[in-house]
Amino acid sequence: MNKLLNTLFAVSVACATSLAFAQTPPATAPAQATNVAPATPAAGPASPKSLEAKVAMCIGCHGIVGYKSSFPEVYRVPQIAGQGAKYIAAALNAYKTGDRKHPTMRGIAESLTDQDIADISTYYENLGRAGRKAAAEKPSREPNAQVAALLQKAACASCHGANMSKPIDPSYPKIAGQYADYLFVALKSYKMENNPASGRNNAVMGAIAKQFSNAELKALSNYVGSLEGEMQTVPEPRFHRSNH
Ligand code: HEC
Ligand code: HEC
Repeated sequence: MNKLLNTLFAVSVACATSLAFAQTPPATAPAQATNVAPATPAAGPASPKSLEAKVAMCIGCHGIVGYKSSFPEVYRVPQIAGQGAKYIAAALNAYKTGDRKHPTMRGIAESLTDQDIADISTYYENLGRAGRKAAAEKPSREPNAQVAALLQKAACASCHGANMSKPIDPSYPKIAGQYADYLFVALKSYKMENNPASGRNNAVMGAIAKQFSNAELKALSNYVGSLEGEMQTVPEPRFHRSNH
């Protein structure tokens, strides 16, 4: 199994160096990784080994600083280490049910059981925790007048928190400090509902995103992405051991 995992990591590295084919090799990897993953007990904490096998599918994209996706446009793959576990699980379930259309993430989420999703979400919430400090109550910088008006218009802070890092419900995301290019793609996705190939069906964010032009969504993304947050891309040790 180690040999197969190492091969998967090698595929991921090859993929990281080639933007044009960024999506292709890992898209096939999860199916293989699932086949070799040891059966998970229906309840109880995952054994460290099975967790490693599950996370092996993710680190080729979410564990590489600066790694980019090329669909539907080029942007950095979101930071998930330090994101809330309940939100990570909600997002994975949205890919699984098809409410979120991103094809690679759908394929990956479909291969995960509820137990896998629970284990992986907890793992990523805690990943990097030791070196992280909680975001200050107030946003780390003030918006300019234009962005202040946009934030006000849709009351973003009322759900995502005054510092954009303290959502009122754990199934809502932290967004402060998330990569701005990803935030922009995510916000535009909510405008696109019931499109079979891309977009996100979400009643709450759909109604919000549709109130703004793409230029306004970009200004919002640039501001929110520039704030200090609690999320990171953590290069995972296993990955380094097998490749460097
Ligand atoms: C081929 C690269 C790739 C792999 C492998 C991959 N992801 Fe993703 N992931 C992405 C991209 C790209 C997005 C953004 C998709 C979108 O626009 O909705 C994403 C989005 C996500 C999100 C939503 C983040 C947010 O802020 O809403 C979560 C959670 C996530 N991935 C978890 C995982 C987990 C867990 C694994 C492993 C089981 C994994 N991903 C494997 C590329 C990847
Ligand atoms: C009524 C509550 C509410 C308000 C107000 C709100 N959001 Fe959200 N936001 C959510 C929820 C819930 C989600 C998760 C949706 C999903 O599961 O895809 C979300 C998701 C997002 C995402 C996607 C994050 C990711 O990692 O993919 C971004 C970006 C975002 N919101 C930005 C904003 C901005 C900017 C505003 C103000 C213009 C705003 N939100 C206002 C509840 C809200």
